[in-house]
Amino acid sequence: MKLNIAVLAGDGIGPEISVQGVAVLTAVCKKFGHEVSCKEALVGAAAIDAVGDPFPEETYRICREADAVLFSSVGDPRFDNDPAAKVRPEQGLLAMRKKLGLFANIRPVQTFSCLVHKSPLKDELVKGADFICIRELTGGMYFGEKHEGDDMAYDTNKYTRPEVERILKVAYEYARRRRRHLTVVDKANVLASSRLWRKVAQEMAPNYPDVTTDYMYVDNAAMRMIQEPTFFDVMVTENTFGDILTDEGSCITGSMGLLPSASTGESTPVFEPIHGSWPQAKGLNIANPLAQILSVAMLFEYFGLQAEGELVRRAVDASLDAHVRTPEIQVEGGAKYGTREVGQWIVNWIENNR
Ligand code: IPM
Ligand code: MN
Repeated sequence: MKLNIAVLAGDGIGPEISVQGVAVLTAVCKKFGHEVSCKEALVGAAAIDAVGDPFPEETYRICREADAVLFSSVGDPRFDNDPAAKVRPEQGLLAMRKKLGLFANIRPVQTFSCLVHKSPLKDELVKGADFICIRELTGGMYFGEKHEGDDMAYDTNKYTRPEVERILKVAYEYARRRRRHLTVVDKANVLASSRLWRKVAQEMAPNYPDVTTDYMYVDNAAMRMIQEPTFFDVMVTENTFGDILTDEGSCITGSMGLLPSASTGESTPVFEPIHGSWPQAKGLNIANPLAQILSVAMLFEYFGLQAEGELVRRAVDASLDAHVRTPEIQVEGGAKYGTREVGQWIVNWIENNR
């Protein structure tokens, strides 16, 4: 297979983890005889600094022409505390999602058994937790009509029936391939938009008799994720709720640096870690590259390259078992490995194993 990949490294720790993701991608392709070509493009603060636009036209073109985008992170403290900033790095990510029509964000929350003790929750609660959050990504408050005045401001949480239907369809398809349990998360006791979600879900549920559908208010879901994370199989929710719940989900696993995601929809799919740009760690070689590397596994799997994805996952497991880990998940007294060392170890493992 021939793969054209757009590589958007972005800001903060983005460039460091991106290098490791590309190294793993390249190693696996070489092993399986796939031709891969990577094209780098600007996004986020890096793009604002270079050309004044967080998602330049040129980057959009490179993404459109690629088979997939390997994305890292955007964000820069220079913009965070300046409410008056006209452009922000995050707008680059949002523009990419919108322009590529990436309405479905797939965020798996999986625990690694050797890391459960790193979770802030009790071991017996997290053990075996394995669910997927399907987050709607191009609607809701993120993209609804906004007004930003000095004394009044609002965001509109708007959803249309087709937007809700298409994301629920994706969620049902995932549920069918898993444990056939779908939880629709909303706030239908208060929000009109949520009542539309629930109505549409209730209409669709009979078409999926093999899947158990339940409905949960978002506040309750946030609580249940802590009390009994193993309850969930597939959850589906709107953009803002999904943003919040997946940070909570990543925490359950013990480190934010572990979780990859895929954003899919109408055009080129994007594979990215769910963590942000962690500007404080920039250049320190301490960021965990695993979420980025696991995003590469998701990329392969998207194209039906299961063995390739599996090899990446086994290499990651092997690195954890061998205690080749970045500081935040290292065992007590374990050796010091940085972003580069972990990435290189995984590449070597891939070269030497099948
Ligand atoms: C995420 C991030 C983004 C979001 C930010 C960087 C705009 O937090 O991918 O979860 O809110 O969607
Ligand atoms: Mn987020």
